[in-house]
Amino acid sequence: MPKKIIHIIINGTETETIADTGQRLIDLLRDTLGLTGTKEGCGIGACGACTVIMDNRAVNSCLVPAIAADGHEILTIEGMMKDGNLHPIQEAFVKHHAIQCGFCTPGLVMSARALLDRNPSPDREEIKKAIEGNLCRCTGYEQVIEAIQDVASKGGNLCR
Ligand code: FES
Ligand code: FES
Repeated sequence: MPKKIIHIIINGTETETIADTGQRLIDLLRDTLGLTGTKEGCGIGACGACTVIMDNRAVNSCLVPAIAADGHEILTIEGMMKDGNLHPIQEAFVKHHAIQCGFCTPGLVMSARALLDRNPSPDREEIKKAIEGNLCRCTGYEQVIEAIQDVASKGGNLCR
């Protein structure tokens, strides 16, 4: 398969890497770059487990060609911690027991991050809309919504 050198800012670090032209972004992240926090569930854009943020927008990395990330900024779950501390969204997920098996969690956290970065004070309906593409078979979603509401109630500046 033809290959291409691409440049991506991943979790704040300028990264040069080689992508196959037919490779998906999720495979570049997990297999080439070792960022295995991003999970693959369905592989067809239906579950949201693979959600990452590309240029401030939540995307399904199983649907994005790796070469389409050339010149763009990607944030994955590995980029959420700061100075060794969990991000406030991650802390809220723990506090509200919004995690059970955890497979969906990276994707949900990234969808929540994209929402709170563009809208620091979302209402319940806006939160539900933002995570509607993230399937979770364990939590029933209520704790996830509570966690995001908790962060929103404390102000968007906590989310940077
Ligand atoms: Fe990408 Fe399910 S693995 S949406
Ligand atoms: Fe298990 Fe969401 S915590 S799928």
